[in-house]
Amino acid sequence: MVKENIAKLVEKAIKTLQKEKVFPEFVIPEVLVEHPDKQNNGDYSVNIALKLAKTVKKNPQEIAEAICAKIKPSKAVEKIEAVSGFINFYLSMEFFQQEISVILRQKDKYGSQQSKKTVVIDYSAPNIAKPFGIGHLRSTIIGQALYNIYQFLGWKCIGDNHLGDWGTQFGKLIYQIKKKIKPKDWKKLSINELEKLYVEFHKEAETYPEMEEEARSYFKKLEKGDKEAKTIWQACVDTSLKEFDRIYKMLGIKIDYALGESFYGGEPMQKIVAELAKKKISAKSQGAIVIKYANDELPPAMILKSDKATTYFLRDLATIKYRLKTWRPDIFVYEIGADQYLHLKQLFSAVKSLGWVKKQKLVHVAHGMIRWEHGKFSTRKGQTIHLEEVLQEAISRAMKIIESAKANIVLSEKEKKEISEIVGIGAIKYNDLSQHHSRDIIFSWEKILSMDGNSGPYLQYTVVRCQSVAKKAKAKKLEVNLTGLNEAEKNILKTIYKFPEIIQLAADNFSPNLICNFAHDLAQKYNLFYNQCPILSSENKETRLALNAAVGQVLKSCLKLLGISIPKKM
Ligand code: ARG
Repeated sequence: MVKENIAKLVEKAIKTLQKEKVFPEFVIPEVLVEHPDKQNNGDYSVNIALKLAKTVKKNPQEIAEAICAKIKPSKAVEKIEAVSGFINFYLSMEFFQQEISVILRQKDKYGSQQSKKTVVIDYSAPNIAKPFGIGHLRSTIIGQALYNIYQFLGWKCIGDNHLGDWGTQFGKLIYQIKKKIKPKDWKKLSINELEKLYVEFHKEAETYPEMEEEARSYFKKLEKGDKEAKTIWQACVDTSLKEFDRIYKMLGIKIDYALGESFYGGEPMQKIVAELAKKKISAKSQGAIVIKYANDELPPAMILKSDKATTYFLRDLATIKYRLKTWRPDIFVYEIGADQYLHLKQLFSAVKSLGWVKKQKLVHVAHGMIRWEHGKFSTRKGQTIHLEEVLQEAISRAMKIIESAKANIVLSEKEKKEISEIVGIGAIKYNDLSQHHSRDIIFSWEKILSMDGNSGPYLQYTVVRCQSVAKKAKAKKLEVNLTGLNEAEKNILKTIYKFPEIIQLAADNFSPNLICNFAHDLAQKYNLFYNQCPILSSENKETRLALNAAVGQVLKSCLKLLGISIPKKM
C-alpha cells in the first residue's frame, strides 16, 4: 500500500539523518500518514516534524525540509514538499492510472490480504423466549460486517452467537408454564406467548413474592438436569430458534456457531469457580461468591448466587476459556450494547487477573441505541417494537418507492418483490452501519430510504448504474488514458485508490462506518462524473469505461463487506 511505503520512506530518511548526525539518536515515533484536509496540500501528509521539534531542538519547518531532502521522488510519488512543518506527498498520475489497472485485474480481490491471525466475534446473541428485538439488530449487522471485513483481510474468523438461553429467567418461565399451560401444549407456545407468560410472572410476583423463591428453585432444578424442567426449556429454545432463523434468513445472516450460554454448564464452570478461589480473586459475600477488584476499581461481579446458581458473568468466563482453548484467537470481539460496558470491563479485568490472556486483545465494540427523534424506539403504547415488523415495513416502503418511480425499465411483479426486499433490508443495514457504532441512531424512514442521500438505496442504485453502463458498452480491455482528463475524472482517481487503506482502518478501529463514508464519497464523485461526462459517445470512451468499471467494482466490494446485496435492476 502506498501509504505504508510513505511511512517507510520517512522513517528511512530520519535514520539517515541520524547516521549523518544531523539528528541525535532516538527511537523514531510512529509515522502517521494521513490525507490532508485541503486538496492543495497533496494526497498524503506527515506531521512527524512537528512531533520531533522538541527532541531535535530545531523548528519544525527546518526538520521537515531536512527529511524532505532525503526522499527522492519515485514513480508513485512525484513531488514532496515541506510546508509549515508538514511533509506533503503528491501522488503521480501514473500511480492513479496503475491503480485502476490493478482494480480491473484483481476485481473482488482488490484490497484483500493474507493473514495468519484469528478473531472470534461474539455477535447477535438474542435471548430465548423473547422476540428478536430491535436491540439485537445492531449487534447482528455490525458483527457480521466486522466478520466480513476481517475475513477479507485474510483472518480466520469465528462467529459465535452467544444466545441468551440460560439463567434465572428460565426458572420464572418454567414455573409459569407449569402453572398455566398443559404439558401437551408446551411445544405449541409461540414466542409472543412465551414473552407474555414471562411478563405475567412479574406482575403476579408483585402480589405473591414467594413466586420468586419458587422460580429460583426451578432454575436450580434445570441446572441439576431435572427432566421436566429440561423439557420445558427445550420447547422454549426450539420455538425461539425457529423464529430467529426466519429473521436471519430475511437479513441474509449466517453465524458459524450458536453455542449459547447453556453450552457452558456443569463441571467447566465449577472448575473456574475453584480457580478463582485458589488465586484469591473471588470471595464470599453474603452467601454469594463474587470477584473483588483491587482497590475497588470496579464494583464486585457475582459469579455464584447464594443458592449456588450460576450467573451470566460466570458463563461468560467459561466462554472465554472455551474460545481460548478451541480457537486460540488473537482478538476477541464482543459486539454488544453500550449498556453492558461495566459487565465487559469486569469480565476483561477478571480474565487478566486469572492470567488467561497475554498478548490477545479483548475488545468491546459497544453500540448505541436506536431511537425515534422524540425518544425510545417503541410503539405508541410503549411496547417494544419487534424487528420483523420493522423489516417488513422497510420492504413495503421500498415497494411503494419502486411502484411510484418514473419507470425507465419495466419490472415484473416477481422482480419488484425481489428488488423491494433487497432495497428495504439493505437500507436498514446501511442506516445502522453508516454511523459510528458507539452513537445512538435516530431512526427516520425518510433518511433510510432516501434515493439521493447517504443511504443504502443510493449506493445500490449507483452500482446498478455502473453495471448497466458496462453492459451497454460491452468493452473488453479497459485502460485509463492520462491525456485530457477532466476534474470529474481526476476526482474519481484521487478517491478510489484509498479503498485498501480504508478497509484496514475499518478493521483496526472496528468501524464499518468508515467503509460507508468512503463508498458514499466515491458514489457521489461517480454520479457527478456520470452527469457531466457522456461515456459511450465520448472520445475518451475507453478511459471513462475504465473508471466506470473500477467504481462499479469497488462499490460492489464495499457493499459486500457491509453485507448489503445488490439488485440486478433498479
Ligand atoms: N444475550 C445477551 C443480551 O441480550 C447478549 C450476550 C452478548 N454476549 C456475551 N458474551 N455476553 O443482553
